[in-house]
Amino acid sequence: MEDLYVLGIESSCDETSAAVVRNGREVLSNVISTSLPLHKKYGGVVPELASRKHLEYIVPVIDEALAVSGIPLERIGAVGVTFGPGLLGGLLVGLTAAKGICFARNIPLVGVHHLEGHIFANLIGNEDLEPPFVALVASGGHSHIVHVRDYCSYEVLGRTRDDAPGEAYDKVARELGLGYPGGPVIDRISKEGGRDAVHFPRTHFENSFDFSFSGIKTAVLNYVNRARMAGTAVSIPDICASFQEAVCDILCENTLNAAASVNEKTVVLSGGVASNSRLRDMFSRRTARRGMRFYRPEPALCTDNGAMIGAAAYYAFKKGRVSSLDLNAYATLPLDEIQSCCGAAGRPRGQFPDGSLPDR
Ligand code: KG4
Ligand code: ZN
Repeated sequence: MEDLYVLGIESSCDETSAAVVRNGREVLSNVISTSLPLHKKYGGVVPELASRKHLEYIVPVIDEALAVSGIPLERIGAVGVTFGPGLLGGLLVGLTAAKGICFARNIPLVGVHHLEGHIFANLIGNEDLEPPFVALVASGGHSHIVHVRDYCSYEVLGRTRDDAPGEAYDKVARELGLGYPGGPVIDRISKEGGRDAVHFPRTHFENSFDFSFSGIKTAVLNYVNRARMAGTAVSIPDICASFQEAVCDILCENTLNAAASVNEKTVVLSGGVASNSRLRDMFSRRTARRGMRFYRPEPALCTDNGAMIGAAAYYAFKKGRVSSLDLNAYATLPLDEIQSCCGAAGRPRGQFPDGSLPDR
Protein backbone atom coordinates (compact mmCIF):
# COMPACT_ATOMS: atom_id res chain seq x y z
CA MET A 1 0.00 0.00 0.00
CA GLU A 2 1.33 3.42 -0.91
CA ASP A 3 2.03 5.82 1.97
CA LEU A 4 -0.55 8.55 2.50
CA TYR A 5 0.75 11.81 3.90
CA VAL A 6 -1.97 13.94 5.48
CA LEU A 7 -1.52 17.58 6.37
CA GLY A 8 -3.55 18.17 9.56
CA ILE A 9 -4.67 21.70 10.45
CA GLU A 10 -6.15 22.83 13.78
CA SER A 11 -7.30 26.36 14.65
CA SER A 12 -10.46 25.99 16.74
CA CYS A 13 -9.28 27.82 19.86
CA ASP A 14 -5.98 29.53 20.67
CA GLU A 15 -3.53 27.12 19.02
CA THR A 16 -2.67 27.45 15.34
CA SER A 17 -1.20 24.10 14.41
CA ALA A 18 -0.21 22.09 11.35
CA ALA A 19 1.29 18.62 11.13
CA VAL A 20 2.30 16.03 8.58
CA VAL A 21 1.20 12.51 9.51
CA ARG A 22 2.12 9.36 7.60
CA ASN A 23 -0.57 6.66 7.39
CA GLY A 24 -2.52 8.03 10.34
CA ARG A 25 0.00 7.04 13.01
CA GLU A 26 3.43 8.46 12.34
CA VAL A 27 3.98 12.16 13.10
CA LEU A 28 6.64 13.69 10.84
CA SER A 29 6.06 17.21 12.12
CA ASN A 30 3.67 18.93 14.52
CA VAL A 31 4.11 22.69 14.66
CA ILE A 32 2.06 24.60 17.23
CA SER A 33 1.89 28.34 17.63
CA THR A 34 -0.26 29.59 20.48
CA SER A 35 -1.75 32.95 21.32
CA LEU A 36 -2.17 31.82 24.97
CA PRO A 37 0.16 34.49 26.47
CA LEU A 38 -2.09 37.19 24.97
CA HIS A 39 -5.15 35.79 26.79
CA LYS A 40 -3.56 35.33 30.20
CA LYS A 41 -4.43 38.77 31.49
CA TYR A 42 -8.11 38.25 30.58
CA GLY A 43 -8.31 34.88 32.36
CA GLY A 44 -9.61 33.11 29.25
CA VAL A 45 -9.43 33.06 25.47
CA VAL A 46 -10.59 36.29 23.78
CA PRO A 47 -12.02 35.11 20.43
CA GLU A 48 -11.21 38.23 18.41
CA LEU A 49 -7.58 38.29 19.57
CA ALA A 50 -7.26 34.57 18.83
CA SER A 51 -8.68 35.00 15.30
CA ARG A 52 -6.20 37.73 14.45
CA LYS A 53 -3.31 35.59 15.63
CA HIS A 54 -4.54 32.61 13.60
CA LEU A 55 -4.45 34.83 10.50
CA GLU A 56 -0.91 35.86 11.27
CA TYR A 57 0.35 32.35 12.10
CA ILE A 58 -1.44 30.02 9.70
CA VAL A 59 0.80 30.27 6.62
CA PRO A 60 4.14 30.22 8.50
CA VAL A 61 2.94 27.30 10.63
CA ILE A 62 1.92 25.25 7.56
CA ASP A 63 5.20 26.12 5.81
CA GLU A 64 7.18 25.02 8.83
CA ALA A 65 5.21 21.77 9.23
CA LEU A 66 6.02 20.86 5.63
CA ALA A 67 9.67 21.88 5.97
CA VAL A 68 10.24 19.95 9.21
CA SER A 69 8.54 16.83 7.83
CA GLY A 70 10.71 16.80 4.72
CA ILE A 71 7.56 16.12 2.69
CA PRO A 72 6.95 18.75 0.01
CA LEU A 73 3.41 19.93 -0.66
CA GLU A 74 3.38 17.91 -3.91
CA ARG A 75 3.51 14.67 -1.88
CA ILE A 76 0.67 15.57 0.51
CA GLY A 77 -2.25 13.29 -0.39
CA ALA A 78 -5.04 14.94 1.62
CA VAL A 79 -5.67 17.82 4.00
CA GLY A 80 -7.54 17.21 7.26
CA VAL A 81 -8.93 20.27 9.01
CA THR A 82 -11.03 20.98 12.10
CA PHE A 83 -14.34 22.48 10.96
CA GLY A 84 -16.05 22.53 14.38
CA PRO A 85 -16.84 22.90 17.16
CA GLY A 86 -14.85 25.93 18.24
CA LEU A 87 -14.45 29.66 17.82
CA LEU A 88 -15.81 30.54 14.40
CA GLY A 89 -13.18 33.13 13.51
CA GLY A 90 -10.33 30.71 14.16
CA LEU A 91 -12.04 27.76 12.46
CA LEU A 92 -12.57 29.83 9.32
CA VAL A 93 -8.87 30.69 9.10
CA GLY A 94 -7.79 27.03 9.20
CA LEU A 95 -10.60 25.87 6.94
CA THR A 96 -9.89 28.54 4.34
CA ALA A 97 -6.19 27.68 4.28
CA ALA A 98 -7.02 23.98 3.91
CA LYS A 99 -9.47 24.65 1.08
CA GLY A 100 -6.90 26.80 -0.73
CA ILE A 101 -4.33 24.01 -0.63
CA CYS A 102 -6.84 21.36 -1.73
CA PHE A 103 -8.07 23.53 -4.59
CA ALA A 104 -4.56 24.41 -5.76
CA ARG A 105 -3.25 20.83 -5.51
CA ASN A 106 -6.50 19.09 -6.44
CA ILE A 107 -6.35 16.82 -3.39
CA PRO A 108 -9.15 15.75 -1.01
CA LEU A 109 -10.32 17.93 1.86
CA VAL A 110 -11.35 15.98 4.95
CA GLY A 111 -13.39 17.86 7.55
CA VAL A 112 -12.61 16.66 11.09
CA HIS A 113 -14.63 17.15 14.26
CA HIS A 114 -12.41 18.62 16.98
CA LEU A 115 -13.32 15.83 19.43
CA GLU A 116 -12.55 13.15 16.83
CA GLY A 117 -9.11 14.70 16.67
CA HIS A 118 -8.66 14.54 20.45
CA ILE A 119 -9.84 10.93 20.57
CA PHE A 120 -7.59 9.74 17.73
CA ALA A 121 -4.52 11.42 19.21
CA ASN A 122 -4.41 8.05 20.97
CA LEU A 123 -3.54 6.28 17.71
CA ILE A 124 -0.20 8.07 17.67
CA GLY A 125 2.31 5.92 19.48
CA ASN A 126 -0.22 3.18 20.27
CA GLU A 127 0.14 0.90 17.24
CA ASP A 128 -2.18 -1.78 18.60
CA LEU A 129 -5.11 0.51 19.38
CA GLU A 130 -8.15 0.12 17.11
CA PRO A 131 -11.86 0.75 17.71
CA PRO A 132 -14.09 -0.30 19.34
CA PHE A 133 -13.36 1.46 22.62
CA VAL A 134 -14.79 4.05 24.97
CA ALA A 135 -13.16 7.49 25.05
CA LEU A 136 -13.29 10.23 27.64
CA VAL A 137 -12.77 13.65 26.08
CA ALA A 138 -12.03 16.15 28.85
CA SER A 139 -10.91 19.60 27.83
CA GLY A 140 -11.53 23.29 28.42
CA GLY A 141 -14.67 23.30 26.31
CA HIS A 142 -15.82 19.68 26.32
CA SER A 143 -16.59 16.74 28.49
CA HIS A 144 -17.90 13.71 26.62
CA ILE A 145 -17.88 9.96 27.09
CA VAL A 146 -17.94 8.51 23.60
CA HIS A 147 -18.47 4.95 22.42
CA VAL A 148 -16.20 4.75 19.40
CA ARG A 149 -17.77 1.76 17.66
CA ASP A 150 -15.60 2.19 14.59
CA TYR A 151 -13.81 4.99 12.77
CA CYS A 152 -16.51 7.59 12.02
CA SER A 153 -19.10 5.77 14.13
CA TYR A 154 -19.75 7.38 17.49
CA GLU A 155 -22.33 7.30 20.22
CA VAL A 156 -22.18 9.85 23.03
CA LEU A 157 -22.83 7.99 26.30
CA GLY A 158 -22.48 10.98 28.64
CA ARG A 159 -21.63 14.66 28.60
CA THR A 160 -21.42 17.61 30.94
CA ARG A 161 -24.63 19.40 31.79
CA ASP A 162 -22.81 22.63 32.65
CA ASP A 163 -19.07 23.36 32.85
CA ALA A 164 -16.36 21.28 31.18
CA PRO A 165 -13.70 19.94 33.59
CA GLY A 166 -10.94 22.15 32.15
CA GLU A 167 -13.26 25.11 32.59
CA ALA A 168 -13.74 24.15 36.26
CA TYR A 169 -9.94 23.95 36.68
CA ASP A 170 -9.55 27.36 35.03
CA LYS A 171 -12.28 29.03 37.13
CA VAL A 172 -11.03 27.57 40.42
CA ALA A 173 -7.47 28.63 39.58
CA ARG A 174 -8.67 32.14 38.81
CA GLU A 175 -10.45 32.37 42.17
CA LEU A 176 -7.34 31.13 43.97
CA GLY A 177 -5.22 33.65 42.07
CA LEU A 178 -3.17 30.96 40.36
CA GLY A 179 -3.40 32.33 36.81
CA TYR A 180 -4.54 30.88 33.48
CA PRO A 181 -4.74 28.13 32.30
CA GLY A 182 -5.57 26.55 35.64
CA GLY A 183 -5.14 22.86 34.84
CA PRO A 184 -1.35 22.58 34.75
CA VAL A 185 -0.80 24.76 37.82
CA ILE A 186 -3.43 22.98 39.95
CA ASP A 187 -1.97 19.65 38.83
CA ARG A 188 1.47 20.79 40.01
CA ILE A 189 0.40 22.36 43.32
CA SER A 190 -1.78 19.34 44.16
CA LYS A 191 1.31 17.20 44.57
CA GLU A 192 1.96 19.02 47.87
CA GLY A 193 -1.60 18.81 49.18
CA GLY A 194 -3.87 16.25 50.81
CA ARG A 195 -6.39 14.62 48.50
CA ASP A 196 -8.78 14.00 51.40
CA ALA A 197 -8.09 17.25 53.23
CA VAL A 198 -11.41 18.82 52.17
CA HIS A 199 -14.41 16.83 51.00
CA PHE A 200 -15.88 18.42 47.88
CA PRO A 201 -19.15 17.03 46.47
CA ARG A 202 -19.26 14.59 43.55
CA THR A 203 -22.40 15.03 41.44
CA HIS A 204 -24.06 11.89 40.06
CA PHE A 205 -27.21 11.67 37.98
CA GLU A 206 -29.52 8.71 38.19
CA ASN A 207 -29.44 6.37 35.17
CA SER A 208 -27.01 8.66 33.38
CA PHE A 209 -23.28 9.00 32.80
CA ASP A 210 -23.56 12.79 32.50
CA PHE A 211 -21.31 15.13 34.47
CA SER A 212 -21.80 18.38 36.34
CA PHE A 213 -18.82 20.43 37.45
CA SER A 214 -20.41 23.74 38.36
CA GLY A 215 -21.37 22.46 41.85
CA ILE A 216 -17.84 21.52 42.81
CA LYS A 217 -16.51 24.82 41.50
CA THR A 218 -19.03 26.68 43.68
CA ALA A 219 -18.19 24.44 46.66
CA VAL A 220 -14.51 25.40 46.36
CA LEU A 221 -15.37 29.09 46.15
CA ASN A 222 -17.72 28.85 49.16
CA TYR A 223 -15.08 27.01 51.17
CA VAL A 224 -12.49 29.72 50.45
CA ASN A 225 -14.92 32.60 51.11
CA ARG A 226 -16.11 31.09 54.40
CA ALA A 227 -12.52 30.70 55.58
CA ARG A 228 -11.67 34.26 54.54
CA MET A 229 -14.67 35.66 56.42
CA ALA A 230 -13.81 33.63 59.50
CA GLY A 231 -10.22 34.81 59.22
CA THR A 232 -8.87 31.25 59.14
CA ALA A 233 -5.97 30.28 56.95
CA VAL A 234 -6.55 27.96 54.00
CA SER A 235 -4.03 25.62 52.46
CA ILE A 236 -3.98 26.17 48.68
CA PRO A 237 -2.26 22.79 48.05
CA ASP A 238 -4.94 21.01 50.12
CA ILE A 239 -7.77 22.76 48.25
CA CYS A 240 -6.15 21.99 44.87
CA ALA A 241 -5.50 18.33 45.69
CA SER A 242 -9.00 17.80 47.10
CA PHE A 243 -10.70 19.57 44.19
CA GLN A 244 -8.62 17.57 41.71
CA GLU A 245 -9.43 14.31 43.49
CA ALA A 246 -13.16 14.94 43.23
CA VAL A 247 -13.02 15.93 39.53
CA CYS A 248 -10.84 12.95 38.57
CA ASP A 249 -12.95 10.56 40.62
CA ILE A 250 -16.15 11.56 38.78
CA LEU A 251 -14.46 11.49 35.36
CA CYS A 252 -13.00 8.06 36.01
CA GLU A 253 -16.03 6.37 37.60
CA ASN A 254 -18.53 7.59 34.99
CA THR A 255 -16.24 6.59 32.12
CA LEU A 256 -15.54 3.10 33.46
CA ASN A 257 -19.22 2.52 34.25
CA ALA A 258 -20.21 3.77 30.79
CA ALA A 259 -17.67 1.39 29.21
CA ALA A 260 -19.08 -1.50 31.23
CA SER A 261 -22.60 -0.59 30.07
CA VAL A 262 -21.61 -1.17 26.43
CA ASN A 263 -19.36 -4.15 27.22
CA GLU A 264 -16.16 -2.43 26.19
CA LYS A 265 -12.90 -3.48 27.81
CA THR A 266 -10.75 -0.69 26.34
CA VAL A 267 -10.85 2.95 27.45
CA VAL A 268 -8.84 5.92 26.24
CA LEU A 269 -8.29 9.40 27.63
CA SER A 270 -8.14 12.56 25.53
CA GLY A 271 -8.34 16.35 25.62
CA GLY A 272 -6.28 18.91 27.54
CA VAL A 273 -7.31 17.52 30.95
CA ALA A 274 -6.03 14.07 29.90
CA SER A 275 -2.51 15.35 30.55
CA ASN A 276 -3.42 15.60 34.25
CA SER A 277 -1.08 13.40 36.27
CA ARG A 278 -3.68 12.31 38.85
CA LEU A 279 -6.28 11.46 36.18
CA ARG A 280 -3.77 9.32 34.29
CA ASP A 281 -2.72 7.54 37.46
CA MET A 282 -6.30 6.94 38.60
CA PHE A 283 -7.37 5.53 35.22
CA SER A 284 -4.31 3.35 35.08
CA ARG A 285 -5.00 1.79 38.51
CA ARG A 286 -8.76 1.46 38.23
CA THR A 287 -8.71 -0.04 34.72
CA ALA A 288 -6.08 -2.56 35.83
CA ARG A 289 -8.28 -3.49 38.79
CA ARG A 290 -11.24 -4.08 36.47
CA GLY A 291 -9.20 -5.99 33.87
CA MET A 292 -9.57 -3.25 31.26
CA ARG A 293 -7.03 -1.91 28.77
CA PHE A 294 -6.12 1.75 29.08
CA TYR A 295 -4.48 4.18 26.63
CA ARG A 296 -3.66 7.86 26.78
CA PRO A 297 -1.78 10.17 24.42
CA GLU A 298 1.54 11.60 25.46
CA PRO A 299 0.90 14.93 27.26
CA ALA A 300 1.98 17.09 24.30
CA LEU A 301 -0.72 15.44 22.17
CA CYS A 302 -3.50 15.98 24.73
CA THR A 303 -3.88 19.72 24.10
CA ASP A 304 -4.86 21.07 20.68
CA ASN A 305 -2.50 20.12 17.85
CA GLY A 306 -2.50 19.39 14.12
CA ALA A 307 -1.16 15.82 14.41
CA MET A 308 -4.36 14.58 16.07
CA ILE A 309 -6.37 16.10 13.21
CA GLY A 310 -4.08 14.45 10.65
CA ALA A 311 -4.53 11.07 12.36
CA ALA A 312 -8.32 11.39 12.53
CA ALA A 313 -8.50 12.63 8.92
CA TYR A 314 -6.52 9.64 7.65
CA TYR A 315 -9.03 7.15 9.09
CA ALA A 316 -12.06 9.23 8.08
CA PHE A 317 -10.68 9.39 4.53
CA LYS A 318 -10.17 5.62 4.53
CA LYS A 319 -13.85 5.32 5.49
CA GLY A 320 -14.80 7.41 2.46
CA ARG A 321 -15.15 10.84 3.97
CA VAL A 322 -14.26 13.56 1.50
CA SER A 323 -15.63 17.03 2.14
CA SER A 324 -16.53 19.49 -0.56
CA LEU A 325 -14.82 22.84 -0.91
CA ASP A 326 -18.00 24.53 0.30
CA LEU A 327 -17.69 22.90 3.75
CA ASN A 328 -18.76 25.33 6.49
CA ALA A 329 -17.26 25.96 9.91
CA TYR A 330 -19.52 25.38 12.92
CA ALA A 331 -19.24 26.83 16.42
CA THR A 332 -21.22 23.86 17.74
CA LEU A 333 -21.34 20.49 16.05
CA PRO A 334 -22.84 17.25 17.39
CA LEU A 335 -20.24 14.48 17.29
CA ASP A 336 -22.70 11.70 16.52
CA GLU A 337 -23.94 13.58 13.42
CA ILE A 338 -20.47 14.11 12.01
CA GLN A 339 -20.76 11.76 9.08
CA SER A 340 -23.82 13.49 7.70
CA CYS A 341 -22.62 17.08 7.91
CA CYS A 342 -19.12 16.92 6.46
CA GLY A 343 -19.84 15.82 2.95
CA ALA A 344 -19.37 12.08 3.39
CA ALA A 345 -21.04 9.52 1.18
CA GLY A 346 -22.33 12.05 -1.29
CA ARG A 347 -24.51 13.93 1.21
CA PRO A 348 -25.07 17.69 0.84
CA ARG A 349 -22.03 19.41 2.26
CA GLY A 350 -22.32 21.37 5.46
CA GLN A 351 -25.86 20.08 5.96
CA PHE A 352 -27.70 17.22 7.54
CA PRO A 353 -29.33 14.68 5.22
CA ASP A 354 -32.66 16.51 5.40
CA GLY A 355 -31.00 19.70 4.21
CA SER A 356 -31.07 21.43 7.60
CA LEU A 357 -28.04 23.01 9.18
CA PRO A 358 -26.59 21.73 12.45
CA ASP A 359 -28.17 23.28 15.53
CA ARG A 360 -26.24 26.44 16.48
O1 KG4 B 1 -7.96 20.41 24.71
P1 KG4 B 1 -7.52 21.78 25.08
O2 KG4 B 1 -6.13 22.21 24.69
O3 KG4 B 1 -8.49 22.86 24.51
C1 KG4 B 1 -9.86 22.66 24.38
O4 KG4 B 1 -10.29 22.04 23.38
O5 KG4 B 1 -10.56 23.11 25.33
O6 KG4 B 1 -7.71 21.87 26.67
C2 KG4 B 1 -7.36 23.00 27.42
C3 KG4 B 1 -7.84 22.76 28.86
C4 KG4 B 1 -7.69 23.97 29.77
O7 KG4 B 1 -8.90 24.18 30.45
C5 KG4 B 1 -6.57 23.56 30.74
O8 KG4 B 1 -6.70 24.13 32.02
C6 KG4 B 1 -6.75 22.05 30.77
O9 KG4 B 1 -7.08 21.68 29.46
N1 KG4 B 1 -5.51 21.36 31.18
C7 KG4 B 1 -5.40 20.62 32.31
C8 KG4 B 1 -4.05 20.20 32.37
N2 KG4 B 1 -3.39 20.69 31.27
C9 KG4 B 1 -4.31 21.39 30.55
N3 KG4 B 1 -6.31 20.31 33.22
C10 KG4 B 1 -5.89 19.54 34.27
N4 KG4 B 1 -4.62 19.12 34.42
C11 KG4 B 1 -3.67 19.41 33.50
N5 KG4 B 1 -2.42 18.97 33.66
ZN1 ZN C 1 -9.33 20.81 22.22
